[in-house]
Amino acid sequence: MNMNSDLYAKRRAQLAAQMARLAPNSIAIIPTALERQRNRDSDFLFRHDSYFYYLTGFTEPHAWLVLTSEGQTTLFCQPKDLEREIWDGVRLGPDAAPQQLALHEAWPVTELDAKLPGLLENRAVVWYPFATHKDLSARIEVGLNAVRARVRYGALCPEQQRDVCGILDDMRLLKDAHELDIMRRAAQISARGHIRAMQRSAAMLRAGQDVREYHLDAELLHEFRQHGSQYPAYNSIVAGGANACVLHYRADAAPILAGDLVLIDAGCELDGYASDITRTFPANGKFSAAQRQLYDLVLASQDAAVAATRPGARFVDPHEATVAVLAQGLLDVGLLDKNKVGSAQDVIANRSYFQFYMHRTGHWLGMDVHDCGSYVEPSQVGTVSERRDPLSGELIKDRPSRILHPGMVLTIEPGLYVRPAPGVPERFHNIGIRIEDDAVLTANGCELITRDVPVKADEIEALMRGV
Ligand code: GLY
Ligand code: MN
Ligand code: MN
Repeated sequence: MNMNSDLYAKRRAQLAAQMARLAPNSIAIIPTALERQRNRDSDFLFRHDSYFYYLTGFTEPHAWLVLTSEGQTTLFCQPKDLEREIWDGVRLGPDAAPQQLALHEAWPVTELDAKLPGLLENRAVVWYPFATHKDLSARIEVGLNAVRARVRYGALCPEQQRDVCGILDDMRLLKDAHELDIMRRAAQISARGHIRAMQRSAAMLRAGQDVREYHLDAELLHEFRQHGSQYPAYNSIVAGGANACVLHYRADAAPILAGDLVLIDAGCELDGYASDITRTFPANGKFSAAQRQLYDLVLASQDAAVAATRPGARFVDPHEATVAVLAQGLLDVGLLDKNKVGSAQDVIANRSYFQFYMHRTGHWLGMDVHDCGSYVEPSQVGTVSERRDPLSGELIKDRPSRILHPGMVLTIEPGLYVRPAPGVPERFHNIGIRIEDDAVLTANGCELITRDVPVKADEIEALMRGV
């Protein structure tokens, strides 16, 4: 039996109980991810579907979970096949799966379409993940059609299709001890990667070597894989100099020069869970005065966001705390002119900070780097207020932001990105800074699980000195 099979069985039982409460006599169909062709006969590296994995812990492709509201669990998986296993690796197979994964029964996936009508027949509702799997609804409809063809013999056809993600998103939003343990370890590995990249950048420049963004990307990957991470949780951003002002920049071939800042946004995935860290550091280990001034401002805004991340607060509170600090700071350092934009309150109300800070301060983190979970408080979805966006003039409907609870995990990632523009002091041109940590909500506040990598400017300089 898989070591954690009880954990997944418990999650399936929770899902079944929710299905029974919301729609008695219902059935859920949840496939893992599709394999994707990269070119000719090479596929992209397979990565399971997060919902499927959350309920099974099973990582093989071509697998489906079927679950009834009474808690009956069926797995469809790849049949044993010696020839395929010689080429692609061992398959668990339907004979071993029930015992190994604590399921009631398992069938070869080749029988799924034939069995689907029988599974759907006489059920009131069919649940599946909406808009996540190409052609899934079409495949379920083929099954439903086959049931409909039998209604004249007394069969009942499900009358409703419902999105199972709604239930699963709320379950996944609160992480259990097993998940938090993996996330802590993922965060520690990622922190080591960042430390290694910082130190290599300074050491290579000191040695007079050519440093490229891809060199630092390689250092991250080295550390991730050395410590058992399967792959990066998302495409690593390694941005030297002005490239840091491109929010979704990829590690490329640009040279990294002494005097540049380097922004690295990278985190490993470990056993299905993401980490997500950004650090910005001076390539040669010493901040210039202008870099340091903006760095300290971003860090102060992160401190304010961290203080606002506690149970009972709203998801939006850390963002608002960040913006309050940045708004005042942008006036203080001269990036915004108070004669033009007014007070810090005006900067906030008119979103004048948006020129330099154009993203939100965080997102849920879990199996997916931008993890699932509604950002609206479920008990208040009906409370809607309207306002006009001061920049676009667009009418925005606001709903109360989600209330934070212990066990939720989110990122706290303020930044400043200064593109050359009229009125922008030259000494700040092309500075891009983001500082990102991963926070677990605790009983009284939050725990930053990514702080094995230093964040204070002095500590970063000390780390990069003389290595
Ligand atoms: N690395 C993606 C993000 O920070 O949201
Ligand atoms: Mn992030
Ligand atoms: Mn990130």
